[in-house]
Amino acid sequence: MQILGIEEITFGATDLAKCRQFFLDWGLALVAEADQELVFECMNGCRVVVAHSDKPGLPKGIEADPTLREVVWGVTSQGELDQLRTQFQALPDFYDADQRIGCTDPNGLALRIQVSQKRSVDVVCARTNTWGEHNRINEPSPAYERAQPIEVGHVVFFVTDLAATSAFYEKYLGFVVSDRYPDRGHFLRCAPQGGHHNLFLLQLPQPRAGLNHVAFTVRDLHEVFGGGLHMSRCGWDTELGPGKHPISSAIFWYFNNPAGALVEYYTDEDELTADWQAREFTPGPTMFAEWAIKGGIDGHTRRQKDAEAPTGRFMTDKSKN
Ligand SMILES: [Fe+2]
Repeated sequence: MQILGIEEITFGATDLAKCRQFFLDWGLALVAEADQELVFECMNGCRVVVAHSDKPGLPKGIEADPTLREVVWGVTSQGELDQLRTQFQALPDFYDADQRIGCTDPNGLALRIQVSQKRSVDVVCARTNTWGEHNRINEPSPAYERAQPIEVGHVVFFVTDLAATSAFYEKYLGFVVSDRYPDRGHFLRCAPQGGHHNLFLLQLPQPRAGLNHVAFTVRDLHEVFGGGLHMSRCGWDTELGPGKHPISSAIFWYFNNPAGALVEYYTDEDELTADWQAREFTPGPTMFAEWAIKGGIDGHTRRQKDAEAPTGRFMTDKSKN
């Protein structure tokens, strides 16, 4: 049994009109809409649901809304789902309905598993040239007017018991720890081979349960920039970015999310195998971001916030005096 990744997430929120506009600007497709629920899809069919806090049947939140109420992970086959059913039966709030099985994780979050419904995608990504290795010949790199996320790549939670929550995902879902902040944070990937993390669990000095962010995978760094600039032009607020994580190597851009906490565009994370040895780090701002722009870049001026827009002359036109 191997978890393939995130299939669907459900937010609980109250301002659905604002969330609707936010996720349309973010680049998701609205595929269903009702009074108390919006259903969006990423490019590969990974779903983002925004449900009204009052919607009947919504799993209990780990904190006050707006926040994430449920995460659905995917497996390859019905056989794997049946195997998990046997193991899950003894777990808290065992769930078996709608072709999903599930339970509540040690942090209080509703967790579900289904046979993957995601589609394979065929997208063109930017090739890069480095010294001695030229992958892009007679071809400019792309620029994006806006982003179209491929899927939800990872979710990040504040947890009340890091050891117990990490052990749960390792034991029952086969997750592997990629890197650690000892006693403070675990980066976990779904399987020995895969991207650096699909789940990051963070225990604060005064532990509490909550959502930190949801991260959307985009094609390449140009799409992180294009998507972030578009969100800025639409009037949404950057928390931090663009920037680069030293752990995972990903290029990121974080925005405040009306459906809860932050959302992130990211790309180019490390790909790991069973040979990878988990590292240990001490938390700190330079471990979070190798570099980052606080407050983001203005989508109109294409300069950092509060910097002057270009004046119409080339920078190289400036006289020396
Ligand atoms: Fe992230």
